[in-house]
Amino acid sequence: MLLVTGAAGKTGRAVLRALSRRGAPTRAFVRSSEQARALDSLEISEVVLSEIVIGDLTDRRALANAAAGCAAIYFICPNMHPEELAIANLMIDAAHASDCRRLVYHSVLHPQTEAMPHHWQKLRVEARLFESGLETTILQPCAYMQNVLAARCEIETKGCYRIPYSAESRFSWVDLEDVAEAAAMVLTEPGHEGAIYELSGPQRLSSREVAQHLALGIGRAVQAQVIPLTDWQHDARQRGLPAATLTNLSKMFEYYDRYGLAGNSRTLAALLSRQPTDFRTFVERELDSPEPSMP
Ligand SMILES: NC(=O)c1ccc[n+]([C@@H]2O[C@H](COP(=O)([O-])OP(=O)(O)OC[C@H]3O[C@@H](n4cnc5c(N)ncnc54)[C@H](OP(=O)(O)O)[C@@H]3O)[C@@H](O)[C@H]2O)c1
Repeated sequence: MLLVTGAAGKTGRAVLRALSRRGAPTRAFVRSSEQARALDSLEISEVVLSEIVIGDLTDRRALANAAAGCAAIYFICPNMHPEELAIANLMIDAAHASDCRRLVYHSVLHPQTEAMPHHWQKLRVEARLFESGLETTILQPCAYMQNVLAARCEIETKGCYRIPYSAESRFSWVDLEDVAEAAAMVLTEPGHEGAIYELSGPQRLSSREVAQHLALGIGRAVQAQVIPLTDWQHDARQRGLPAATLTNLSKMFEYYDRYGLAGNSRTLAALLSRQPTDFRTFVERELDSPEPSMP
């Protein structure tokens, strides 16, 4: 039995699907009965989940119960959770309490980046894992290609891909499906203990180039439009984004503006024994479009 935390999020669902393709019995840890129902029914109906457990990641007893009888844990912490290190400590304790020796941590590319607090927090979790006495593997994905689809409606209706950082900053966008395939592999195959794997896509694309790919995918012009960070912050406040998340995202965008986020795809290619998905292939798969083609 494998335990996946944060299982109802976009990462968790992708990992569950990848594990189900491998036929691995899986226990999904989710926060609410609505999330449990969503997993169990429509959204990922192809997944044959062995069990769904409802609980809070900050609840020591819930984590210990969830880990009981598991051979390995895939530890996904919610995005930008302020208590990620404390939750990691609870997760490690739960693993020990249930004699689960193996833990795979879903980290992030360049956790060393102190200027982005949610990256820096993951570095501290990684350091804690080294001291945990568990057999650990750490996956460090770059930004998912799927993030771009959050603005899909605006991209399709207005031909506008809005970003609060330089359109020239470059990112090694990675396909979440590739990340999930790698996650399922390291969870179900031996030989990955002690490894740290950077998971990046095969191109370093600017937002202008992302917009070009999107344009070909949907069959209409798409422009990357840089909006002032202050405008983004104003909108985010109007939408009720929590203050801590707003601060974290603002720091991330300031960093992106100067440096982007670029890695190298060779580790992911070696793990998958194939080239990781490129942005064009991702767009063709995700966006319903007539025969997109790049010049
Ligand atoms: N997005 C990227 O490009 C990217 C790249 C690299 C790494 N990552 C990392 O990937 C991880 C997962 O991100 P994600 O966007 O897939 O996850 P997410 O949606 O932020 O969270 C995953 C799930 O955890 C649940 N959750 C939140 N607080 C909880 C709590 N206290 N107890 C139990 N469950 C709780 C959420 O439920 P609710 O919906 O109810 O809150 C959600 O279903 C993050 O650590 C992120 O940093 C993301």
